[in-house]
Amino acid sequence: MQERSTGLPARWRLSTNENEFGPAPSAVEAMAAAAQDAHRYPDCAHHSLRRSLARLHGVSEEAILVATGIDGLLAQVCRSLLHPDSPVVTTAGTYPTFAHFAEAAGAVVHTVDYHQDRADAEALATAARRHRAALVYLAEPDNPLGSALGADEVLRLADRLPESTVLVVDGAYAEYAATRPLDARDVMGRPLLWLRTFSKAHGLAGLRVGYCLYDRATTAGLDRGLEHYAVGRLAETAARADDRDGALDRGRPHALPGGTGGAGLPAPAVRDELRDLPDPGRPPPHRRGDERHATAGDVHPAGADPRAAGPGTPHGRAAGPTRRGARPVARPSLNVPPPRPCTRGCGM
Ligand SMILES: Cc1ncc(COP(=O)(O)O)c(C=O)c1O
Repeated sequence: MQERSTGLPARWRLSTNENEFGPAPSAVEAMAAAAQDAHRYPDCAHHSLRRSLARLHGVSEEAILVATGIDGLLAQVCRSLLHPDSPVVTTAGTYPTFAHFAEAAGAVVHTVDYHQDRADAEALATAARRHRAALVYLAEPDNPLGSALGADEVLRLADRLPESTVLVVDGAYAEYAATRPLDARDVMGRPLLWLRTFSKAHGLAGLRVGYCLYDRATTAGLDRGLEHYAVGRLAETAARADDRDGALDRGRPHALPGGTGGAGLPAPAVRDELRDLPDPGRPPPHRRGDERHATAGDVHPAGADPRAAGPGTPHGRAAGPTRRGARPVARPSLNVPPPRPCTRGCGM
């Protein structure tokens, strides 16, 4: 939105936590080769991608549902599992897309506050029991705070929910977690959806591909009304190539040669740009002679610290992800981003 209103293209769109290292070379090569088959539909049930993901996670192909990124999965989860007036629970100020789709499905969204800079598992469980929630949403690690509960606490939360409540764990930043993340096998036997994406650590945000790990026996109906051919042939091919590259679940920023290059630091070009950014909370000074582009600070949600949000920043540490900001953050110590018309906060 800010790019459109100012007419200035952003050099870095930090609010989306894109991976400035770009896609794996193997994914780029695979897409180039697949481009000549663009006249063909993709495999409608995404069998080969699901098979390779199933192998990777040590689960059956049936436990994997592929869709257009986590946002696409959140839409599918809300469409298939919610009815008008279904109660759902989320955290005030967390990634807002779940609430956006839940409201669109007619659900009643109940929120709880963060506690000490983390999602409050106790409050989520209590609210889920009080409201008999159909769904509880947890971003793990959280965006915007960057903190994570860790697998043990997530599983304790799952086990304290009413039997009919499904826990939706958004693992957009699972590869960056400082705490032990969930294991796909933790999902089995529980009404727990673990959403994963190729957008962040794998640098494929523009392709829109993600997947959900779940147990069909505990969460029946999730694939109800699932869009056929949702993920295009090139996206599927790139995701499979990225998988073959061995990057999946290691987190590419952490796996860069040299050891330190990606561990928590933005890509070098971004790092150089960020050095000059103003203090968080202060309006960015107008930079004379640099009129061609907006600065990163210009497109970042107001008040958030753009230097803390570079791609590859390990969420779960002080420098957390920042994005969207459609709902106010519950902590008074944080600068509260103003409501934005676009829930995606993409800055365009
Ligand atoms: C917590 C969280 N979930 C999901 C997404 C979107 O992921 P995807 O690109 O897979 O739709 C983002 C992107 O900013 C995010 O921060």
